[in-house]
Amino acid sequence: MKKIIENGTIVTAADTYKADILIENEQITAIGENLDAPDAERIDAKGCYVFPGGVDPHTHLEMPFGGTVSKDDFETGTIAAAFGGTTTVIDFCLTNKGEPLQNAIDVWHAKSKDKAVIDYSFHLMISELNDEVLDQLPAIMDNEGITSFKVFMAYKNVFQADDETLFRTLKMAKEHGGLVMVHAENGDVIDYLVSEALEKGNTDPIYHALTRPPEVEGEATGRAAQLTGLADSQLYVVHVSCSEAVEKIAEARSKGFNVWGETCPQYLALDQSYLERPNFEGAKYVWSPPLREKWHQEVLWNALKSGQLQTLGSDQCSFDFKGQKDLGKGDFSKIPNGGPMIEDRVSILFSEGVKKGRISLNQFVDIMSTRSAKLFGLYPKKGTIAVGSDADVVIFDPNVERTLSVGSHHMAVDYNAFEGMKVTGEPVTVLSRGDFVIRDKNFVGETGKGRYLKRARYNQLLAPVDEKLKI
Ligand code: URP
Ligand code: ZN
Ligand code: ZN
Repeated sequence: MKKIIENGTIVTAADTYKADILIENEQITAIGENLDAPDAERIDAKGCYVFPGGVDPHTHLEMPFGGTVSKDDFETGTIAAAFGGTTTVIDFCLTNKGEPLQNAIDVWHAKSKDKAVIDYSFHLMISELNDEVLDQLPAIMDNEGITSFKVFMAYKNVFQADDETLFRTLKMAKEHGGLVMVHAENGDVIDYLVSEALEKGNTDPIYHALTRPPEVEGEATGRAAQLTGLADSQLYVVHVSCSEAVEKIAEARSKGFNVWGETCPQYLALDQSYLERPNFEGAKYVWSPPLREKWHQEVLWNALKSGQLQTLGSDQCSFDFKGQKDLGKGDFSKIPNGGPMIEDRVSILFSEGVKKGRISLNQFVDIMSTRSAKLFGLYPKKGTIAVGSDADVVIFDPNVERTLSVGSHHMAVDYNAFEGMKVTGEPVTVLSRGDFVIRDKNFVGETGKGRYLKRARYNQLLAPVDEKLKI
């Protein structure tokens, strides 16, 4: 069935203009004024922006963590993502030391197949890098289209890898065209600070933040960036939360290193004081890196504006307050780390960013969609509105005012981290490969219709292209 989206204002990372979009066979086949196709269904986007669907490069759906499993799975998580204007998610596939990597990937395929309502892909966690692991990677890149590899520098005795693993992963990525991702916090120092706090009887949620100060994030970010320079490789730092980490990324980029940075809506809109909320409510805001003092928010916004940070991930890893977060009552270190962010990622960036004049409309599209599609090998199928691209389209009302709340969100958890926050703008209709997923704010998608995406390898040519895009 053909569709024409008419009367809207198309916004890409580069342009803003009025035109119609013709959709046929999952793709955009024409863009122009007064398009006509006699048998096409016409969708009126009057008064709305028409954006490419959001690309969320950082989710943890149904992930075992902290003695439990994150609540939103590939069904509820992708439905919520679609309501929020996201049409592609890239989830982290966890691996176990000593086990074939393909086993872990098969587990992630089993979780997601027949569940996702939008398209999805996987990053692969690297917990050790010996010759046996190295042998498996080229085939995985070819067969699975997994071209990004995550190394945790924190979560000692759980996910944390050592510096040799990070360095060898960077060298492997350089050789084979992968992109290395890091959770950059110094896990050894955090482990010591946590034990010290617990010994003193400091068990409340706020100590989660106080035992993971900005310096441990800045140090790990700088270390990873230096190792990237040494390996002449490429690095993407996930969930950047503070000024110290931004400085290290900017310094590395000024030396010409291929270092990229992602922040998340929670660091732009919330601050450390949330962890001090009474009655254990602070546990709702426990994730890593932790929320920071409020002044860091403006540093992050400026870094997005200046191009030192390039993307926005949700770091969706949701746990119920009752029954999951309370595993850490009496011991903050046992609170499962993570929060529900997948649904509000795009709206917060628009409302707090564009509406408040911190970033431009085109930067907004770049940050929430285009840049992630480029870095992770999905562009131009995903991440833009162009002839030949997948018809992943968001019709967005920029003027509607609403309040974020657990009562109206679509995530499976019992709280919303942004409860009570007023935002301007909302996705009205969302299409994934030409099919309606959200229509007039109602879910009309189909469980299992989301397709697994094989991704292209990171291309060194991206660096000069990116220089041109820098504002
Ligand atoms: O606290 C967080 N961020 N949970 C998810 C896992 C991770 O570190 O990204
Ligand atoms: Zn992390
Ligand atoms: Zn994460």
